[in-house]
Amino acid sequence: QRPVLRLLSCPGTVAEDLRRDEQPPGSVETGFEDKIPKKRFSEMQNERREQAKRTVLIHCPEKISEKKFLKYLSQHGPINNHFFYESFGLYAVVEFCQKESVHSLQNETCAPSKGIEAAIPFRSRFFNLKLKNQTSERSCVQMSNQLPPSSKKLFQVLCDAESIDDQLNTLLKEFQLTEENTKLRYLTCSLIEDVAAAYFPDCIVRPFGSSVNTFGKLGCDLDMFLDLNETRNLSTHKTSGNFLMEFQVKNVPSERIATQKILSVLGECLDNFSPGCVGVQKILNARCPLVRFSHQASGFQCDLTTNNRIALTSSELLYIYGALDSRVRALVFTVRCWARAHLLTSSIPGAWITNFSLTMMVIFFLQTRSPPVLPTLDSLQTLADAEDKCIIEGNNCTFVRDLNRIKPSENTETLEILLKEFFEYFGNFAFNKNSINIRQGREQNKPDSSPLYIQNPFETSLNISKNVNQSQLQKFVHLAQESTWILQQEDLDGPDTSGNRSWGLVALLLPSGANRKSVGKKKSKKATSEKIKVLLESIKSNRTENFTDTNGK
Ligand code: CTP
Ligand code: MG
Repeated sequence: QRPVLRLLSCPGTVAEDLRRDEQPPGSVETGFEDKIPKKRFSEMQNERREQAKRTVLIHCPEKISEKKFLKYLSQHGPINNHFFYESFGLYAVVEFCQKESVHSLQNETCAPSKGIEAAIPFRSRFFNLKLKNQTSERSCVQMSNQLPPSSKKLFQVLCDAESIDDQLNTLLKEFQLTEENTKLRYLTCSLIEDVAAAYFPDCIVRPFGSSVNTFGKLGCDLDMFLDLNETRNLSTHKTSGNFLMEFQVKNVPSERIATQKILSVLGECLDNFSPGCVGVQKILNARCPLVRFSHQASGFQCDLTTNNRIALTSSELLYIYGALDSRVRALVFTVRCWARAHLLTSSIPGAWITNFSLTMMVIFFLQTRSPPVLPTLDSLQTLADAEDKCIIEGNNCTFVRDLNRIKPSENTETLEILLKEFFEYFGNFAFNKNSINIRQGREQNKPDSSPLYIQNPFETSLNISKNVNQSQLQKFVHLAQESTWILQQEDLDGPDTSGNRSWGLVALLLPSGANRKSVGKKKSKKATSEKIKVLLESIKSNRTENFTDTNGK
């Protein structure tokens, strides 16, 4: 059972202030522009990583006075920001201004003595606060739920929206990762890094995938990558002189075996020593070996890999695409929710389309518009400078990293048009002979007979949707055609004035079969409420979508 993660956000937190500050002067605040990052991916990652290293996670007693709690912790140094959340208990994330404060707190902390149980002493940044005298004061913090919106709320906000464009932006706003949730993701990686550092003192555990590529939905899994590059590079920093020292290392027959050995040891370590890591599974024979576990305190389902630098690079590429134009994320989130509502994606590994493949399809579609909404990967490569040059395992991963060097799109199509055209485009796509390729942004002949062929942008001989079978592809095509039809009907019917019709995006999210009637105006109230119930259920199941997701790995 996935723990429920709810955040208790403090009124006027530093995070909120920061977000306000990020608004460009004179811009109109609508609530989602602040989520469009303008920093380089590496800059953003380094900044967040550094913040996470100054941060501690504290399991708190249920009744706690926030004021006293902060006063107590401030003895160790000034606090930059903090928030509370609930996940089988009350937790606090506290970011100090200086890293030394964490050491100071650690030095004051004692290992628990639990009678017959023995504690394995491990110096972590995850604490358990016990109060000598229970306070009766209620905490004055405000609760803010970090799960996706309840289905009821989502339905309501979508129905209340003013236009289809407004619906798409609303959906994005409701589902995107919050500032606090992002902080918690970086903190979790940082806590795992502490464990891995016992073996590899210079390692870095970096989040990748939807946690950082701007396409993450609240509740999505946390993909992390153990980066041993620093350790590797140390051996190449040779100094001049008569003596050259190198590490004495053990050799294994292949890179894959090295990866399996590293992950195997870390899996054991997480299982045996790491506070809060449960359900550790070593999945070492997968194409990309990984250790899967649940981080109980944060509520995240985590996948730890190593030697997976290309996946980190594709996260960086998606980050750039997500940041280039505000329509991209709204469209991707909508297509992902649409696919989930129609059971095209699943939490169970299998022949379904994955969220990653869907994101690639949206990016490809946006490259084919005239004028294009997004540039091709080849053109991003042309814009690259010497600093951007990057070859990983013989694959060319060079592309421009500085967002300011990419010209904004001249395309002015609305989200409504783009959504309609997306369904029309893929409802008629020649999947039997053509492949999708974001490098060139145009259809190409399929190199093999896989039903759906989406070229991996960096390992160009790989198909990222190799797992998809013909029947799943057909289902996708059929639903895309049906959705085109629904949106055309919307045009014919004109705007709804009755106030209770499930229009626009809501009609698209309704299960197949219910759709045809839902666009017409002659439907009974009872039938509508039934359909809404089904919609609510399907969206609800979406909230645990990534609990066991291994698709495409
Ligand atoms: N990845 C890849 N090739 C695949 C599958 C995944 O390169 N065939 C990389 C992508 O960079 C992807 C990351 O691994 O973003 C994580 O994979 P996954 O968790 O399946 O996808 P996410 O993008 O994180 O989406 P979700 O929200 O469904 O987890
Ligand atoms: Mg993921």
